[in-house]
Amino acid sequence: MKIIAKKDYDAMSEYVAEQLIAQIQQKPDTVLGLATGSTPEGVYERLVKAYQDGRVTFARVRTFNLDEYIGLDKAHAQSYHAYMNEKLFKHVDLDLTRCHLPDGSGDFEASSHAYESALKQYPIDIQLLGIGRNGHIGFNEPGTAFDTATHVVTLDQATVADNARYFKDLAAVPTQAITMGIQTILKAKAIILMASGEAKREAIMRLMSGKVTEALPASALHRHGEVTLVIDAVLSQHVSRHTL
Ligand code: F6R
Repeated sequence: MKIIAKKDYDAMSEYVAEQLIAQIQQKPDTVLGLATGSTPEGVYERLVKAYQDGRVTFARVRTFNLDEYIGLDKAHAQSYHAYMNEKLFKHVDLDLTRCHLPDGSGDFEASSHAYESALKQYPIDIQLLGIGRNGHIGFNEPGTAFDTATHVVTLDQATVADNARYFKDLAAVPTQAITMGIQTILKAKAIILMASGEAKREAIMRLMSGKVTEALPASALHRHGEVTLVIDAVLSQHVSRHTL
């Protein structure tokens, strides 16, 4: 795992956005794996700016998101469909028919299969990931088998509590989601995991211990040869103290 330490969140976002822009410039039909949450917001802002400045076109890019809540309408402001539309899709020249998110409604078995088939046809070139405080990637919570494909999950209490900041109260937070599995994520050709701030310290320290365990879903990334961990100074001071 390659580690890139930047001074702060803005510098991390800048670095990751430039990686994605370079990738798209070099391969215009790039397949991007995308995440939601607060971590990638700075990257999306910079991708929009790069598009507006004429530095990049998304016309031939395809995207696959990691996850979507179950029980929220796509049009709900806190759905991941709405998030992606607000943060990226509506601001750039992406063809919406090439933008895929798991379907959080209807027949989950059929939609999980369909998602895996589409991913087989269009393998992800770069997958962007955040990490939960409990070490989840996508919505694969601790204890998830590493060989899982796209599937339905019940969210951990900790994840529901973390997500509550986006909802009017705890009771309104969805408790289930559909997510790419760990095996699905590991099929991406390259992976960029971003983490910043004190809240992610424990998860990153556990990840950097090198122990591969289903108790820490992100540790599956040690089994992939092309992972870049991008962290800020808050985290890098701990990482260097424990790994040098
Ligand atoms: C989001 C996702 C999650 C988040 C993680 C961190 O699509 O799959 O794994 O990346 O929960 O969330 P933030 O970035 O809000 O701290």
